[in-house]
Amino acid sequence: MKATAKAHTNIALIKYWGKRNESIILPTNNSLSLTLDGFYTTTTVAFDDSLSEDRFKLDNQLIAGDQYNRVTAFLELIRKMAGKHIYADVESVNDVPTAAGFASSASGFAALAAAGTKAIGLNLTNQELSQLTRQGSGSACRSIYGGFAEWEMGTKEDGSDSYAVPIAPADHWDIRVAAVVLSSTKKKVSSRTGMKRTVETSPFFQGWIDSIPNDLTQIKHGIQDRDFQKVGEIAEANCLKMHATTLGANPPFTYWHDTTLAVMQTIQEMRAQGIPAYFTIDAGPNVKVLYLPEHEKNVEQTLINLPGVSDIRLSKPGQGVTYL
Ligand code: ADP
Ligand code: DP6
Ligand code: CO
Repeated sequence: MKATAKAHTNIALIKYWGKRNESIILPTNNSLSLTLDGFYTTTTVAFDDSLSEDRFKLDNQLIAGDQYNRVTAFLELIRKMAGKHIYADVESVNDVPTAAGFASSASGFAALAAAGTKAIGLNLTNQELSQLTRQGSGSACRSIYGGFAEWEMGTKEDGSDSYAVPIAPADHWDIRVAAVVLSSTKKKVSSRTGMKRTVETSPFFQGWIDSIPNDLTQIKHGIQDRDFQKVGEIAEANCLKMHATTLGANPPFTYWHDTTLAVMQTIQEMRAQGIPAYFTIDAGPNVKVLYLPEHEKNVEQTLINLPGVSDIRLSKPGQGVTYL
């Protein structure tokens, strides 16, 4: 009753930002992402009759508190599905900074869902796996798939039609993402807390929601046509709209640091000089830069020389979950 799975993070090009149901994680809008080969989590789950509670080790450290509670609550869903009441030993390694805005919750819960369901003997389809994974962390439901994936928000209140679907596989398009590492420390406002506060208090939230359907239609055309400018422009604008909602929240907040703005401005200057590159930012200060392979050297060299940049990690489109 033991299995190991690997899952990659994903970067949202159309952001998930808002829940309509917090307990089973139903979103207020569809979102669309690209799975990244450069950041991943590997998780082993072993169900064991002799355990009297779950155990969770992350990066070789025994975890207690909120992070442990999120894992046991998720294991509880797996136990219910399987009708088996056995505790588990979970060992996870993040090849991604944890809780810093690099989507560790996406690779983390996708790997946990895949390894956990396999270990307990459930043989789920990708759709069933995505629907389950969603309840660990919303963004994680997209990491079941490689390449481009869309999370369909669904309309049913039981969540049975809320899961990700594949849009285009990793080999559809060799688009690249440079993750500009400014800070790998834990963010002050988690994604969960940040989006809740925004939904409840930001007067800009409705404008955000109203703008989604058009962004989605357009970006899907752009992906099918491998139209870099179109995809880049929509992704960058969608990111800015999401981050604008946080400034209207009460109390207001932003995930950006001064260095975040400096990188954003550098990308816009590069474009003015004829190098096509666009940025997007999840819930954290670090910037992800979209570019095409022929501009890799130029993008990398420009970014690494900026003050405050501690590392650049390059990604290609990544694969969906795999079992080791
Ligand atoms: P991020 O930007 O890293 O996704 P979030 O605030 O969304 O930040 O989520 C971070 C949380 O996700 C962690 O505090 C932890 O609870 C959970 N998490 C991260 N990695 C793992 C993992 N490998 N296994 C289980 N849970 C994880
Ligand atoms: C800005 O999936 O981390 O990265 O569902 O509460 O776990 P929970 O939140 P999470 O939120 C991700 C927000 C985002 C945008 C995105 O990935 O779509
Ligand atoms: Co997250």
